[in-house]
Amino acid sequence: MTKLFLFCAGVILPSLLTAQIDYNSQIQSIFNSLCISCHGSSGGLSLTSYDNLMAGGNHGDLVVPFDADNSILAQKIQSNPPFGSRMPKNNQSYFDNNPDELQLIIDWINEGASEFVAVIVGAELPGEFAITACYPNPFNPSTTIRFSVETHGYASLQIYDTAGRLVETLVNDRFERGEYEVEWNASLHPSGLYFARLLADGMSFTAKLLLLK
Ligand code: HEC
Repeated sequence: MTKLFLFCAGVILPSLLTAQIDYNSQIQSIFNSLCISCHGSSGGLSLTSYDNLMAGGNHGDLVVPFDADNSILAQKIQSNPPFGSRMPKNNQSYFDNNPDELQLIIDWINEGASEFVAVIVGAELPGEFAITACYPNPFNPSTTIRFSVETHGYASLQIYDTAGRLVETLVNDRFERGEYEVEWNASLHPSGLYFARLLADGMSFTAKLLLLK
């Protein structure tokens, strides 16, 4: 079933419309040098990959996309949160001494916490509509596609395969201004590359989605 829900209404900051920080080269590398000595794969929180981070820890989700203030990850590296020590546990002033790295992690969460730099094709940016993030990506079996509607109007979000065939229409409706999320469950479809295309106002925005089973 397709699930559609309002993520947040209100002013859409231009910085939310693209994901410019690359998780693997910019964020994972920080975890590799500071965190995985303790948060490796053997039990408990693992910070060895995007998927492991997004799978969460003992306190549930560590990252709330677009909302660093409410993300445990950001709290744990900024201060002593209510549920344990400041991180990295063996060097608690590390991020005081390296504010650029701290800010990078916060910015990454606030721009949507996607694994990859978001691909927005076909627009200089952002007219009235845009796909802002898809996560996880690659995914199995479901991913969430986030898009924004700057004014209001009709929009449809469709999935195509690489041969250009329509696979599924996720949404075709009238939208008020706001940020929306649609979940695509691809459990009935084969592995491969797909395109999520947002059509609105005669414009289209396309994002690549990789289903890996
Ligand atoms: C020296 C070992 C050590 C290092 C290095 C370390 N941690 Fe931790 N971490 C722990 C321990 C032990 C806990 C659980 C107890 C606590 O919260 O104090 C924990 C808990 C956490 C939690 C909460 C866990 C949960 O399951 O919800 C997060 C988030 C976290 N660490 C993130 C990080 C990040 C990010 C880094 C690197 C910047 C890091 N840690 C580096 C030992 C470490």
